[in-house]
Amino acid sequence: SWTTGNVIEEQVAVIREQVGGKRAICGLSGGVDSAVAAALVQKAIGSQLTCVYVDHGLMRKGETEQVEKDFVAATGVQLKVVDAEERFLKALAGVTDPEEKRKIIGREFIRVFEQAQAEIIADEGPEVAFLVQGTLYPDVVESGGGTGTANIKSHHNVGGLPEDLEFELVEPLRKLFKDEVRMVGQELGLPDEIVQRQPFPGPGLGIRIVGEITKDRLDLLREADAIAREELTAAGLDRDIWQCPVVLLADVRSVGVQGDGRTYGHPIVLRPVSSEDAMTADWSRLPYDVLARISTRITNEVKDVNRVVLDVTSKPPGTIEWE
Ligand code: XMP
Repeated sequence: SWTTGNVIEEQVAVIREQVGGKRAICGLSGGVDSAVAAALVQKAIGSQLTCVYVDHGLMRKGETEQVEKDFVAATGVQLKVVDAEERFLKALAGVTDPEEKRKIIGREFIRVFEQAQAEIIADEGPEVAFLVQGTLYPDVVESGGGTGTANIKSHHNVGGLPEDLEFELVEPLRKLFKDEVRMVGQELGLPDEIVQRQPFPGPGLGIRIVGEITKDRLDLLREADAIAREELTAAGLDRDIWQCPVVLLADVRSVGVQGDGRTYGHPIVLRPVSSEDAMTADWSRLPYDVLARISTRITNEVKDVNRVVLDVTSKPPGTIEWE
């Protein structure tokens, strides 16, 4: 019968058999799939695994620390962190077109990841022969046609991981659905913040700033996003919401009256949605008092934001993200 214990035991044996005495690399994104895949492989082959985390500077507040500290503490994994924030910001300077942003982020990601791979091979030798990927069952059955999240992923993720022919793939989640992956992750002792994480796009906050991406704007959006997430969690709404993008309209100036006078700031958009698979979605009917708390806190606590607006569009016609 299906139990997380059985799945883990079976996969540990399969991974050991496949990798043998060689070494593997696994890219961590901060998301559920790569974290659980890495934890499984770590359980199977221990120090023969090296994980790579590319910090592109576009993550939400606390997420990089979750990987660097909490994930490492929970698994004992050997982790190489590449701080590439400056490089990404430089490459994205002046860019406002959403697809151009995605392309640049994907391209830079591959370059940085490949360089990290090369460094690991230089350190550890030709024994490095395997690449771990968090491919799920729906990705397997739906790649190459039809509709589904896999297509959303491949459509959006201009980058993804490099297709490197020298590496053999290790895909321990190939038979699992998302909820099963979460259960396995929980059984492996991963932090809740990682295992229960809602979907978050690969290009991160880069596609949640309508306008040019700058460090200041990212910091501002990180604060607003953290407040929204905190209040939604405190209200017990995480399970009702598929995800809630928080978007900075950096190219829009809104007038406010704060303190001594008029201000010119920016609006923040809340985009809470309910959905089964992100192909279609409806806007979440959040309680007014929760919305009020989020709005009050964001306008009080986040500099340069003087307005919070709620997106009440279903998908279609509106996509979940604003870019
Ligand atoms: P949209 O905005 O197309 O989003 O309704 C559907 C789902 O896909 C996520 N999304 C992305 N995920 N890279 C990703 O990995 C991307 O470029 C990207 N764009 C959107 C979005 O968060 C939602 O879950």
